[in-house]
Amino acid sequence: MLAVSNLTKRFAGLLAVDNLSFTVPAGKVTALIGPNGAGKTTVLSMASGLLQPSNGSVTFDGRSIIGSPGHTIARLGISRTYQNLQMFEDMSVLEVAMTGAHRCGTSNIWSTLFGLPSIIREERLIETAARDALAEAGVPSTLFGQDAETLPYGLQRRVELARALAAKPRLLLLDEPAAGLNPVETRDLSALLSTLRAGGLTVLLVEHDMDLVMKLSDYVVVMNFGRAIAAGTPRQVQSDPQVVEAYLGAED
Ligand SMILES: Nc1ncnc2c1ncn2[C@@H]1O[C@H](COP(=O)(O)OP(=O)(O)OP(=O)(O)O)[C@@H](O)[C@H]1O
Ligand SMILES: [Mg+2]
Repeated sequence: MLAVSNLTKRFAGLLAVDNLSFTVPAGKVTALIGPNGAGKTTVLSMASGLLQPSNGSVTFDGRSIIGSPGHTIARLGISRTYQNLQMFEDMSVLEVAMTGAHRCGTSNIWSTLFGLPSIIREERLIETAARDALAEAGVPSTLFGQDAETLPYGLQRRVELARALAAKPRLLLLDEPAAGLNPVETRDLSALLSTLRAGGLTVLLVEHDMDLVMKLSDYVVVMNFGRAIAAGTPRQVQSDPQVVEAYLGAED
């Protein structure tokens, strides 16, 4: 579904992603793991239109997405969450989720300005999509009107996930969704992601929680210093000596 090939990103002399190739097959959970600074977030940013690669290609369903703006990529069916929780800027829970659905809206700026009836219909569709996504992400409807920033961290992360789901993606890019969650919240997240996969969603998961990765993933790609050092099933990569070394090396 997503194919990354010879992908390279240079930041002023630093090679953050170095000739990386891997694929994300449809309907599966693929994990992208590796020590801090390996280049994982940079890969997600290139796959979501936030960063342009220095070299190489990213295709989605065979179509190149390099050079496409984020909203176009969202409309094609790719959504993401962020490693650091983005500020919700005084919005209610429902409004935050609606911003995710808005990215897929079709109305142009002129009909927005003149408030044509099609806009009202579209707003209603967007609100429905947002409510459905919040329910899917396990946010209780009693909280929909609440200021999103006042929620406990674990719930804010669910709201963020709902924002990504509201765009009705076919591919979901997750950047450390379990970071900062307690064990119960992590278990709930794992169950939620399993349900999403069972519903046909394709996931590219960046995550440091190895229990979660090994339990949830169909395939694992291991990065170190911008390169793929191993790829395969969770079992295959766990027993790969290069992977063990990369992780032990990162600890000292
Ligand atoms: N915008 C940027 N400008 C300059 N350097 C950057 C930028 N973004 C990332 N880097 C550098 O690129 C490298 C890869 O960063 P990246 O955030 O992709 O790593 P990561 O694998 O996501 O790490 P972590 O597990 O800590 O989140 C790091 O050395 C980082 O400092
Ligand atoms: Mg990162």
